[in-house]
Amino acid sequence: MKYNFDQEICRLGTDCEKWDNIKNQFGVKDVIPMWVADMDFQSPQPVIEALKLRVEHGFYGYAVRSGSYMESIVDWLKRRHQWSVKKEWITHSPGVIPALSLAIQSFTKPGDKIIIQPPVYHHFARVIQATGREIVSNPLVLENGRYIMDFEDLEAKIDATVKMLILCSPHNPIGRVWSKEELTRLGQLCIKHNILIVADEIHFDFVYKTHTHIPFASISEEFANHSLTCIAPSKTFNLMGVQTSSIIIPNQQLRDRYDQELHTLSIGSPNIFGAVALEAAYRYGEEWLDQLLEYLQENLEYTLSYFRNNIPEINVIQPEGTYLVWLDCRELCFSVKELDEFMLQRARVAMNEGHIFGREGEGFMRLNIACPRSMLKDALGRIENAIASLCKAH
Ligand SMILES: Cc1ncc(COP(=O)(O)O)c(C=O)c1O
Repeated sequence: MKYNFDQEICRLGTDCEKWDNIKNQFGVKDVIPMWVADMDFQSPQPVIEALKLRVEHGFYGYAVRSGSYMESIVDWLKRRHQWSVKKEWITHSPGVIPALSLAIQSFTKPGDKIIIQPPVYHHFARVIQATGREIVSNPLVLENGRYIMDFEDLEAKIDATVKMLILCSPHNPIGRVWSKEELTRLGQLCIKHNILIVADEIHFDFVYKTHTHIPFASISEEFANHSLTCIAPSKTFNLMGVQTSSIIIPNQQLRDRYDQELHTLSIGSPNIFGAVALEAAYRYGEEWLDQLLEYLQENLEYTLSYFRNNIPEINVIQPEGTYLVWLDCRELCFSVKELDEFMLQRARVAMNEGHIFGREGEGFMRLNIACPRSMLKDALGRIENAIASLCKAH
């Protein structure tokens, strides 16, 4: 089957956060939504079919996760990521952010310190603060147009009160796919200081040509035993609305503790539609995903060349993974507020403002390129025109 990712399908009026919540989020209307990590592509046909069948059955009572559901996760990780996982290592969460919250509650206490590497997905900081823990910031360093981890800074900031590190791999918003060497160095440092690694690998299925995602826990048994890995079919197949993710915890003691927290909150039962969608996606969604990855690769190449040729004032940090593109707008010399207003009100493109990902993101914007090319072209054209009008005005 050949999927048509060029097709534009109206999502307005479908209670869709990306399209229907713009006014609430940004205070403006009539802008192109290139923000939240949600793709403007329909999910794979086998997922739609499986959900239809379940809807037509007409029974939506309490559900369980079948052996076949669990096997579909194990098989996906083996086939796509060369990671052999045992079924009993897999536990659950409605979402990855709830899982981070559960992990923080399970393995740290109020006042403990948790490391993050900004600019990074903004809900990491929010969850740490909301649970009364303290953030230790180990900023990534932008070197020759590419972000790297700062291990010296990391080691200098570790003390006995640091209990956890939340790894974003691949990293949102800067798009790095961490190498085995980087992950190994990070893991060794954390284990040496008894710091638990929570690897948020939700973007694991999105890597561009020549890059490979390495699951942190697949590197060694020691790493597996000192970590939790959060994955989901949600980003991969655009299934965020069915609230289903998997948390892989090979260490039984850690898993029991996590499950206890899940049980306390009584949120361990599956969403019946999430269970159906996950299994259909992992079993039959691969053909769609391979075609999608080709389309996204082309969208990325289009974006890179468009900025190079038409908007050289903005430097694009080339992503190695994810469908999010990190735009360095610092040459425009705007304040944080001016840049936000410029993109929204002059360009009329709604992107995530870089500063929400930490102070290190000031002067940057995050562009979501998972949309039909026509929409991407429209958005880039609007940014180009806005910048051209700015140059004319001066
Ligand atoms: C790195 C990262 N983690 C987690 C999430 C959200 O996960 P969930 O919707 O499963 O809570 C996102 C969404 O964009 C993300 O980019």
